[in-house]
Amino acid sequence: MLAEAIARAPGVPAAGPDVALDDAFLQNPYPVYRQWREAGPLHWNDGFFQGAWVLSRHEDVERVLRDPRFSSQRTGGWVKRIEGVDAGYAGRRAHAGLDRFQHLFARAMVFLDAPDHTRLRRVMGAGFHPSLVRGLAPRIEDLVDELLDGLDGPGAAAGFDFIETVARPLPSRVIGLMLGVDRADEARFAAWTDDLAAFIGALRPDEAQLRRAQRSLLELVRYFEAVLAQRRGAPADDLVSLLLRAEAEGLIRADGEVLAQCAMLLFAGHETTRNLLGNGLYTLLRHPAQWAAIQADPDALPGAVREVLRFDSPVQYTGRRVAADLDWHGHRLRRGDLVIALIGAANRDPARYAEPDRFDISRREGSHLAFGSGPHVCIGAGLSLLEATITLRKVSQRWPTLRLCDTQPRWNTNAALRGLQRLDVVSGHAAG
Ligand code: HEM
Repeated sequence: MLAEAIARAPGVPAAGPDVALDDAFLQNPYPVYRQWREAGPLHWNDGFFQGAWVLSRHEDVERVLRDPRFSSQRTGGWVKRIEGVDAGYAGRRAHAGLDRFQHLFARAMVFLDAPDHTRLRRVMGAGFHPSLVRGLAPRIEDLVDELLDGLDGPGAAAGFDFIETVARPLPSRVIGLMLGVDRADEARFAAWTDDLAAFIGALRPDEAQLRRAQRSLLELVRYFEAVLAQRRGAPADDLVSLLLRAEAEGLIRADGEVLAQCAMLLFAGHETTRNLLGNGLYTLLRHPAQWAAIQADPDALPGAVREVLRFDSPVQYTGRRVAADLDWHGHRLRRGDLVIALIGAANRDPARYAEPDRFDISRREGSHLAFGSGPHVCIGAGLSLLEATITLRKVSQRWPTLRLCDTQPRWNTNAALRGLQRLDVVSGHAAG
């Protein structure tokens, strides 16, 4: 039930609408977002980690992502605040592993502020230059064809799970291509990034999630240590070699920064793109006239992908920490407080978009916040748009009569990274 925001005693944050962040919320967060938006600009909610300020209006979400008073250095609390980690017999050994985990995450540029962020972003920017990304198009076309060929004929007619067969493998193959790593290892990438995404996207990560993420990150690091050793001896034309060159030139520090960026690319680019592909096909199939429109006019596809990103954003929120005490919207925000910028809510803000709950691929209302904003705006945006446009074009042309087997598929239970658990589809007209 929605309760009015209650001002607490000075120094204690004001409570926001009394909403449960339960399974119903995870299946469909948009009614809760609306409650938050309508109840006021800024609320305190205990459901996120150990409690956080929640922002749901477009204007505020954009502002917080662009304002240096809100820091991206937010991994400090991840390990310390999880109950049970400080106690227990494993003691020092467990902490040694956690320290390395913490150390690595803290060096990924997504979790850094200027000037370190600026330095790393400049180096990484070269690897994601638009002309380089465009140059990948023919190889992505081949990768998509290969995945779809495996489903053609009886496969598509009998039905298949689009997530497992296309949306999950494609992003790791593409990132593998950019990093120049062995194709045979992609299943391991997918498993590692699943564990990292489950931890990063959990409302309140528990110790088991932390342990799995820790183990996967450390395995991933061991894997990349071997790749780096090999590449130091034989540089190639890939992102790993680019990072190593920057390290040799002193632009990247030799204390794990290269490893941290490699790991970051996997967890930042995998689950997100998988969900864009899944959310995109699902939403288009639920709107048959718009599905037909992209078949008739493939030029409508970029607009359709933009609208999917707005309508069901693969990244529903990101976080910042308050860098120094400040007053905002009538509240005192303390240094270190966590702020949750609800991208998914901002993208449905009626102050920004007419009829925001309507899916409409012909919208011309300017940009969305699905890739963030400001200095940390997604570096892989162009790449994921390319993957989604190619995939949806090929699927819609190959199987124009594709339809959903289940009109109410279940969403995963990850609050930050919104995507379907499975998406069963079948090619052919419905009987009867
Ligand atoms: C649909 C797909 C994607 C979505 C929705 C998405 C979303 C986002 C968002 C919201 C941010 C900003 C985070 C913040 O400000 O805290 C971000 C940053 C980032 N994304 Fe993406 N992303 C996607 C795909 C990718 C891909 C394919 C890659 C790389 C292969 C990638 C790599 C990154 C990196 C490295 C950052 C950090 C940039 C920085 O800190 O300067 N993303 N992404």
